[in-house]
Amino acid sequence: MQDRKQQLIVALDVPSFEEARQLIDKLKEDVDIFKVGSQLFTACGPVVVRYIAAMGKKVFLDLKYHDIPNTVASAVERAVALNQQTHTVNNELYDPKEHGIFMLTVHILGGKEMLKAAKEAALKQSKELGVLNPKIVGITVLTSDASTTNVLDIVLERARLAKESGLDGIVASSQEAAILRQEFGKDFIIVTPGIRPLGEKSQDQKRVTTPSEAIKNGSSFLVIGRPIVCATNPLNAAKEIFKEMNNI
Ligand code: C5P
Repeated sequence: MQDRKQQLIVALDVPSFEEARQLIDKLKEDVDIFKVGSQLFTACGPVVVRYIAAMGKKVFLDLKYHDIPNTVASAVERAVALNQQTHTVNNELYDPKEHGIFMLTVHILGGKEMLKAAKEAALKQSKELGVLNPKIVGITVLTSDASTTNVLDIVLERARLAKESGLDGIVASSQEAAILRQEFGKDFIIVTPGIRPLGEKSQDQKRVTTPSEAIKNGSSFLVIGRPIVCATNPLNAAKEIFKEMNNI
């Protein structure tokens, strides 16, 4: 059985470094990967990335870059450079080749030139600095979006463009994951947000599935925010989700 710890990403969707730190401390026993998104990064910037790395954990930087190729390439370079800016917590050392930002997002809508520029920038910068080279995954259609009837066609078309442009994978709902896995093979990364454990409300997410469905559908990583972050006991909520992930 696969190590489910390496498949669960907890989205640190909180408004301050202090709240993120408290959450990481509550979850660190079981959770290895944390998502830093636009809310938290806007609030506190790189400090949270360095903190997670220094705890020996991995960061999924979800800033969904979407701009002209030169600007996106420069942003990706700066993101990779964060993997070099070490800092230690409790005097523990971390290895910049293993920890830090291991994956980041761009919008596939930015087009082929932008996607290629992002991938090339990550490769070049990580080589130059001798740090972890983050995987780059492209956003297909947000999981909160159910406005069209042909979501699957759009997701497939964007996923093809991502692959052609050299990206490592895509972000899509687990409802599309099985078909994506079939077309793109086992090495293509499929990141699925919009996961709701049995009995949970879907909130603003529309294309939702349960953790076990996501695993069955071939998702590589499950991104889960509110069901863990807003739980009375986040560690217990994460443990329950691991159980559901194994229930396939
Ligand atoms: O709280 P919830 O589990 O809905 O959080 C899902 C996380 O996944 C959020 O941080 C959101 O930004 C992110 N996400 C998403 N849909 C995408 C890409 C990322 O919901 N396509």
